[in-house]
Amino acid sequence: MAISVLVGIQWGDEGKGKIIDVLTESAELVVRFQGGNNAGHTVEIGDKKFVLHLIPSGIFRDGALCVIGNGVVVDPIVLVGEIKNLRSQGFDIIPEKLQISTRTHLIMPYHREMDAMREAALSDSDKIGTTKRGIGPAYADKAYRTGIRALEMNDLPRFEKSFRKQLEIYNAIFKANSMEELDADTEWAKLKEVAEFLAPFVKDTVLTVNRAAKAGKKILFEGAQGMWLDVDYGTYPFVTSSNTTTGGACTGSGLSPKYIEEVVGVMKAYTTRVGEGPFPTELECEMGEAIRKAGNEFGATTGRPRRCGWFDAVSSGYSCMINGVDELAITKVDVLDGLEEVKICVAYEVDGRKVYDMPSDTEDIKKAVPVYESMPGWKESTCDCRSFEELPVNAQKYLRRIADLVDARIGIVSVGPNRDQTFYVDSRN
Ligand code: IMP
Repeated sequence: MAISVLVGIQWGDEGKGKIIDVLTESAELVVRFQGGNNAGHTVEIGDKKFVLHLIPSGIFRDGALCVIGNGVVVDPIVLVGEIKNLRSQGFDIIPEKLQISTRTHLIMPYHREMDAMREAALSDSDKIGTTKRGIGPAYADKAYRTGIRALEMNDLPRFEKSFRKQLEIYNAIFKANSMEELDADTEWAKLKEVAEFLAPFVKDTVLTVNRAAKAGKKILFEGAQGMWLDVDYGTYPFVTSSNTTTGGACTGSGLSPKYIEEVVGVMKAYTTRVGEGPFPTELECEMGEAIRKAGNEFGATTGRPRRCGWFDAVSSGYSCMINGVDELAITKVDVLDGLEEVKICVAYEVDGRKVYDMPSDTEDIKKAVPVYESMPGWKESTCDCRSFEELPVNAQKYLRRIADLVDARIGIVSVGPNRDQTFYVDSRN
């Protein structure tokens, strides 16, 4: 690994945390570049399970410095909780191991309230199903140019002034909507405490990242969510509010695109989606339920059951193109063990027309009827396989077929939640 970007190819929850953890074995710098604590990256080490929402997964590697880039939105209360929790489990989370960009926008308590208020106001068919973590309103304030950045935590009087000013505006909106107003003094007391705690972690990480790149260090950019939740390319408006795609690694960290050497796309051997929005291969039947159960498909952040369906080569192929995926990490292959047949969506039918590329209009995606190709499944368990050759022949054929369809090569395969249930394929063998 040199300078790599890892992104989710589907609707998030592809198992990125685990792949990042494996890849960070050799990384010297691990960078989060978008999203916030709407993400939940699960890493299982031995019999311990860790769920990270804001801190990059590289934190479990001694040699790696972790950076929360400017493209992330940070809820400082949540971040302090996460740091304290890891410390209590013996991990040394200190400013020498974790940096927060001076330019990172902060999620304030009023953003969380606003997120909930906006969702509640939408009709059932318009609801986005957000994580209610205040992500959208925080990015909106950034675009409105009324956001508060991490650097203000180094200047408490300035931070307090900005916070009280913004809260006044938000409280007026809450009042007009018959919602409870937030008490400025109570909220400020909490914020002051976390700002004092976090201030030593706040650095100009544009320098950190660019100096590391220039020095030839191994850097991993850790994407959160997935391509179809990207605010520009996803199934708008049923998306998150950041750029989850490869380009976001540069704007969200300050690294020049010329340094990016490799893009790893993570996708499940099937498809899931959490929250609202179109999902052409969704299985609202026993098979969907069976996949949810076998794959333990419940959100790491909100605990919501994930919607499950067959692998969709139309959306994943488009996604690999936008992200410029060199190498695929295919996860949760074991979840399909024991099935008689496995299906792959190779086209959509929209208004009687066959479509091979993902439509830009979400209304067309809503209407899309998947056209499936069927392949024989495999009876054997893949959980103990440690090389591509050890996989059942039908599993090998299935993986080759989906890689072919999305036009990328298989680099990594994962057959279970543990660190050791992962193996490299081909060039990495
Ligand atoms: P928000 O990011 O909380 O605003 O939510 C917007 C949409 O993105 C909702 O459909 C969420 O369910 C979805 N979403 C946000 N973060 C994740 C994630 O980490 N995994 C999967 N879906 C996510």
